[in-house]
Amino acid sequence: MSLSIGMIGCGGMARGHLNGLIELHTHQYDLRLTAVCDAMASRAAEFASISTEQMGTTPTVYTDYRAMLDASRLDAVLIATDHRLHHILTIPCLEAGCHVMVEKPIAITIKAGRAMIDAAQRHHRIFAVAEQYRRGEEPRAIKATLDAGVIGTPYMIFRQSGGVGSSIFCGTPWRHSKADVGGGPMLDNGVHDADLFLYWIGEVDEVMALATTFEKTRTGKTTTGEVATIHPTADDTGIALVRFANGCIGQWTESWAMHGQPFGHTIIFGSKGSINNGEINVDGPDGKPVKTEREALVAQYKPDALFPMGIKNSVTLEQHEFFECIQHGGTPEIDGHIGLKAEAICYAVYESNAAGGQPIKVQDVLDGKVDTYQRELNESLGL
Ligand SMILES: NC(=O)c1ccc[n+]([C@@H]2O[C@H](COP(=O)([O-])OP(=O)(O)OC[C@H]3O[C@@H](n4cnc5c(N)ncnc54)[C@H](O)[C@@H]3O)[C@@H](O)[C@H]2O)c1
Repeated sequence: MSLSIGMIGCGGMARGHLNGLIELHTHQYDLRLTAVCDAMASRAAEFASISTEQMGTTPTVYTDYRAMLDASRLDAVLIATDHRLHHILTIPCLEAGCHVMVEKPIAITIKAGRAMIDAAQRHHRIFAVAEQYRRGEEPRAIKATLDAGVIGTPYMIFRQSGGVGSSIFCGTPWRHSKADVGGGPMLDNGVHDADLFLYWIGEVDEVMALATTFEKTRTGKTTTGEVATIHPTADDTGIALVRFANGCIGQWTESWAMHGQPFGHTIIFGSKGSINNGEINVDGPDGKPVKTEREALVAQYKPDALFPMGIKNSVTLEQHEFFECIQHGGTPEIDGHIGLKAEAICYAVYESNAAGGQPIKVQDVLDGKVDTYQRELNESLGL
């Protein structure tokens, strides 16, 4: 069956999704990009012309998603807009009978995410969150290494990333508006980290964190390309301590206010060794560390099933899995529930900061028992 696909949002990340569709098309995967929708017609029109050139079919251009849903017969919709719109767009697509893959983070708040999961269940549609980080060769290899017990029991993780950010992240005005983004780098980037925490280590029990906005003004480009001064209402930095249900503890940082030297690393320590930015060291018989290079690690643990048709691009891989679930049944690896869990870890950061750095149980955030930070967002959206 040829899958009929629609896209809503034809900005930066959607370009990755368009490339994914093109890659699947080159593998003779039976799909057709039928409709493209963006509030800016020129962006959708550019996607349509790329589709014509690269896939030989021309999707209809829309600026209103409702018109797209009314006019096109779509099996699936890929959504990549600012976070405030995720539930506003996803729920009508599900109601119209489409399967949906929405970009991370699942939603602007936990309540909004729950409404999306409920709608998918009500309408018996596949609902996936586009979260590609764990699908890369190295994260897969790290998972296999941990599962094989190579470094013993993992009990500490350090995940830190910061800089002043690329023009994509720091120059997009909506990314600094709490009403549109929900939270700054601890949500926008941090939800990738949170998903890796779940994947590599397991459930997060509680979070203690501080978050703040160091940069009171920034320069960015509006959607129409004009240079604009941004007065952020979202944070630009978060530093957290994380306690996992299995006893592992972690230190976690995300910032867009680190001038000078950008910084980023992921280190996991276990009872027998460590994985440091992908390199494994285990205690040798003489007490000295024995090193395995990252390339060897990847080569050793690369099961073909994770990379069908030899595809390595993690966005293409998530699309492939989503389309296979639509056609043959099954649940996407990152469905609404996993996407919401990752988001709750991020919102535990903001809820902890709102509580003066007190420990916050992730389950309480998931259950909606703790929502001080998110309340104004929910209220403004009538949630
Ligand atoms: N997975 C990743 O690595 C990754 C990387 C970047 C962004 N993202 C996610 O992708 C999503 C989009 O981010 P981006 O960087 O592409 O943002 P962007 O600003 O580049 O693109 C968003 C697009 O949505 C369009 N849009 C806004 N309102 C709309 C509406 N009502 N109907 C149709 N289109 C509308 C805008 O015109 C714009 O073209 C976010 O959820 C973000 O977190 C994921």
